[in-house]
Amino acid sequence: MAHSEFYKESIEQPEVFWEKQARELAWYQFPKTILSKNKDDYYQWFEDGELNISYLCIDKHIEDGFGEQTAIVFDSPVTNTTNKISFNQLKEEVSKLAGGLQSLGLQKGDTAIIYMPMIPQALYAMLACARLGVIHSVVFGGFAPHELAIRIDDCHPKVIITASNGVEIDRIIPYKPFVDQAIKEAHHKPEKVVVFDRELGVDIEYQPYDIDYTSLVDKSVPAEPVSVSATHPLYILYTSGTTGTPKGVIRDSGGYATALKFSMKYVYGIEEGDTYWAASDVGWVVGHSYIVYGPLLNRNTTILFEGKPIKTPDASTFWRVISDNQVKVMFTAPTAIRAIKKEDPQGKLMEPYDLSCLKYQFLAGERCDVATLNWLEERLKVPVIDHWWQTESGWAMLANMAGLGLQPVKPGSAGKPVCGYDIQILNEEGEPVSSNQEGYVAVKLPLPPGTLVSLWGNPERFKKGYLQKFPGYYFSGDGGYKDESGYIFITGRVDDIINVAGHRLSTAEMEEVVASHKSVAECAVFGIHCELKGQRPLGLVVLKSGENTPLEDLQKEIVYDVREKIGAVASFKEVLVVERLPKTRSGKILRKLLRNIADNTQYNIPSTIDDVGIILEIETIYKQHKIL
Ligand code: COA
Ligand code: AMP
Repeated sequence: MAHSEFYKESIEQPEVFWEKQARELAWYQFPKTILSKNKDDYYQWFEDGELNISYLCIDKHIEDGFGEQTAIVFDSPVTNTTNKISFNQLKEEVSKLAGGLQSLGLQKGDTAIIYMPMIPQALYAMLACARLGVIHSVVFGGFAPHELAIRIDDCHPKVIITASNGVEIDRIIPYKPFVDQAIKEAHHKPEKVVVFDRELGVDIEYQPYDIDYTSLVDKSVPAEPVSVSATHPLYILYTSGTTGTPKGVIRDSGGYATALKFSMKYVYGIEEGDTYWAASDVGWVVGHSYIVYGPLLNRNTTILFEGKPIKTPDASTFWRVISDNQVKVMFTAPTAIRAIKKEDPQGKLMEPYDLSCLKYQFLAGERCDVATLNWLEERLKVPVIDHWWQTESGWAMLANMAGLGLQPVKPGSAGKPVCGYDIQILNEEGEPVSSNQEGYVAVKLPLPPGTLVSLWGNPERFKKGYLQKFPGYYFSGDGGYKDESGYIFITGRVDDIINVAGHRLSTAEMEEVVASHKSVAECAVFGIHCELKGQRPLGLVVLKSGENTPLEDLQKEIVYDVREKIGAVASFKEVLVVERLPKTRSGKILRKLLRNIADNTQYNIPSTIDDVGIILEIETIYKQHKIL
């Protein structure tokens, strides 16, 4: 079916459209009600349907005769390991872990945090929780204990599942000690911590609350999948907001399963049984949707890659993994490709590998610059497709839908609205703007299945943050424009969120840490352009009068504080000391102006600025520090 017809039906008759898609799943009870409203007067999908996503990802394929198909390929260049796990083996691992968790008292509706590196046990833990109806919250390993503590206090896990350590290129990263520190800091105390010992020579200091993962699984009775309502939360995934406190995006079960199954076929154009690789991390939404649930629901072999695009051991790693595993569709962030391009500009490391298995290369997480897209397309000789989505949406909102016949790729654009998303570009008054005019990117309600249903414990913040700015629409937080052929170009966030190496971070959160340094009177943290990572954070600080700590020590201390409080992933490495910050006459710091000066982009001097002379001072400081 042509894209336009399919899309039209999804917008004009969403209930008819999504009922058909829901029939692609083996529900325990097929829903009679397709779209309705919940107690908070927000949309919900398939309210009276019953299913279990762990069953759909595992048991169903075994029942259909595919037990011996490889479900997961674990490829870990950092530990020199490759390992294939069949659906039969996956069932054994997941059902036994689920039984173990049950024996610890976990049951439907409880919450559990998973803080793990990219190892199969992370996937087993997610699927075991899903099997029991336990709501999981995976926390990315690059976050510091303080961030973990914030999440513990927000979602009150009964149990935390972790591992002894992660490995970053050639460095051992402690996970278990971070969990202990976080528990110490948090007010809520989980009952148990299940620890998987990777046996990489790391000593584990056991605490009274610890349970050894392997012993728990060894003695457990396998658990069967529990039937849950379609609206039952599958997971909470924290993401950066415009304040220091992260937001717990809630994902339902039935809508998500329906949307992911649909997306595998129609967005990514992949058939059941093929191999799909999302080179991301289970701690991000891409990992949830396209390392774990999407491919497994669609009976694809999924690749779990514990490495980096470069240095593990070099810039050929991606090509080796594609060729070794006959990957048909791959998904990564543009920053990974830029890193490869920097190390291997001619693409010579690609040459030894037969990459003819690859049909499409998808990119997301940040806007893909045209040079990177062209570089990759010339070498891979397959369509390179940028697509746009967010933690909140859970799956693509803009794309070139490969399963419906590719439309011409327009470099710089993330494509056209995906089925189910009525995307409009609005002005400040909430009116659609004309073609090629920039505005706010918003989606007309109802959103399709699979998108966020609320924020954990904070429905008010959900409404205020996403639904109130433009009544009748979901506001994405991004700016962009639509050309005359309907392709949409995302121009970037209109708030304090930045994207560093495809990782979403809040500058407001970093600013809170910098401002709490004893020598800092006031500060601004904002994102500036970075050749490799897309953006990187820069801090400007005004010191308290009489401050006499040597400058270098002070800078080191502030950088250390951010790493300690937020984590290495913040990539906060630059702080400049300034005499004063540009402000409006009402005292608001002009962060956008500071960013525009650093990026050398055209800017208007705001009429509200209190002192124009400060612009010259900032330019001089940027030049001294080679920012400009
Ligand atoms: N656990 C612990 N630390 C982590 C971590 C994890 N899971 N992930 C990253 N870190 C650390 C890194 O070691 C690094 O520490 P350092 O400052 O001591 O060197 C820091 O966090 C920043 O990491 P990163 O931003 O990844 O930078 P990098 O220089 O190590 O690698 C890239 C750069 C581009 C190769 C890498 O970011 C990459 O592969 N990006 C792809 C992103 C991606 O998949 N995004 C998901 C959305 S699709
Ligand atoms: P996250 O929630 O971590 O997935 O980050 C979502 C944000 O990343 C979006 O709001 C965008 O700002 C940005 N983003 C993701 N994909 C793209 C893309 N293809 N083009 C431009 N920006 C993107």
